[in-house]
Amino acid sequence: MKILVVGSGGREHALAWKIAQSPRVTRVFVAPGNAGTARTDAVVNVAVTAVGELVKFARDNEVALTVVGPEAPLAAGIVDAFQAAQLPIFGPTRAAAQLESSKDYAKAFMQRHGLPTAAYRTFTDAAAAHAYVAERGAPIVIKADGLAAGKGVVVAATRDEADAAIDAMLTGNSLGAAGARVVIEDMLHGEEASFIVMVDGRHVLPLASSQDHKRLADGDAGPNTGGMGAYSPAPIVTPALHARIMREVILPAVNGMAADGAPYTGFLYAGVMIDDAGRPQVLEFNCRLGDPETQPIMMRLKSDLVELLLHAVGGTLDQAEAEWDRRAALGVVLAAAGYPDAPRRGAIIRGLERINPAAHPDVQVFHAGTTLVNTDVAVSGGRVLCVTALGDSVRLAQKAAYAAVDDIRFDGMQYRRDIGHRAVARKP
Ligand code: AMP
Ligand code: GLY
Repeated sequence: MKILVVGSGGREHALAWKIAQSPRVTRVFVAPGNAGTARTDAVVNVAVTAVGELVKFARDNEVALTVVGPEAPLAAGIVDAFQAAQLPIFGPTRAAAQLESSKDYAKAFMQRHGLPTAAYRTFTDAAAAHAYVAERGAPIVIKADGLAAGKGVVVAATRDEADAAIDAMLTGNSLGAAGARVVIEDMLHGEEASFIVMVDGRHVLPLASSQDHKRLADGDAGPNTGGMGAYSPAPIVTPALHARIMREVILPAVNGMAADGAPYTGFLYAGVMIDDAGRPQVLEFNCRLGDPETQPIMMRLKSDLVELLLHAVGGTLDQAEAEWDRRAALGVVLAAAGYPDAPRRGAIIRGLERINPAAHPDVQVFHAGTTLVNTDVAVSGGRVLCVTALGDSVRLAQKAAYAAVDDIRFDGMQYRRDIGHRAVARKP
């Protein structure tokens, strides 16, 4: 069977890598992919949001199942278009993808269905927004309603910062239509975890827990990024907390979407803040897998992903079971110079051939912003590679990942040296 993966990041490389291991799969296509997928899979030169072209490609090439990585095509209605063409696809419809594409929709949904989340209000008028900030005080969080590629959230320590963010989004139009409405919510404290599940409209199959590092610099300092590294499992998600998140967050979300007439199918990612008392509150929903969380999660998945995906599109996830490697996995993102503001492209990446099973057992290098230039691999985006390793503990996975990182280099390469520090502190 032929499978199409839509996207070009490390998440999609990890998906394609895992899907290719299934005995049922004869061919994996990746649209548009990167240098990593170009070497092993058939790359399709179609942009992720060119939905009509992707439908045509899937039909012409008898693709048995399409899996969507990023949020933009989901918000653009790729699932609706494939379903209309009777082509199997795993992901939420455009209506259901509003859980990610509109923060106001997600907050109203959570309030309506009793999910734990910070108090909030939504504004289009700057004066009213300023008045609300004056009333609530700082710290406070300002969020653009729409998709803003990770730039839409300002955690404001002071009222001035909050007011500046409101003015930039509502008055200055800094994020365009995405920031024409803002959600203002109370700041939550604690430790974040990523809780990702597969949903078939009714049933839920949880994936292994994970945590990522959003800030650019060591010690969780510097600007927010898409994620500089991740690991699985997340020691903070104990069996009791896992059960609580399922009961208080995931199941009410899935039941709520069905009750609202927008049943949810696809990967569902709840970003949760866990406070000192172990109480989970939802920071956000994403209607997709996390990047880079997917990379360590796929390395730990022992089951056939294609079997799980077929159950998911067939509505029988209650009959599926996912088996996980008991080891930990940890991925370190290597980013381009200038990332996240202005990543510099073009540097040639050296040392990739040194990452082989003899030198580095249980290590995979997943590509993101890479492209082939003749026989070289060159930097073509902000997050370039995610070097991911398995180990008997997070500490050992960390050690193996960094040993592989040491063999790779390119001009201006930046990465964090402390990925996994929280997990190591909890469970060395
Ligand atoms: P979001 O895209 O909504 O997850 O926000 C991006 C990041 O901003 C989150 O991963 C958190 O680190 C932070 N954040 C968002 N909302 C809050 C909040 N209410 N309190 C504290 N931090 C937040
Ligand atoms: N790593 C965070 C995300 O994928 O949204």
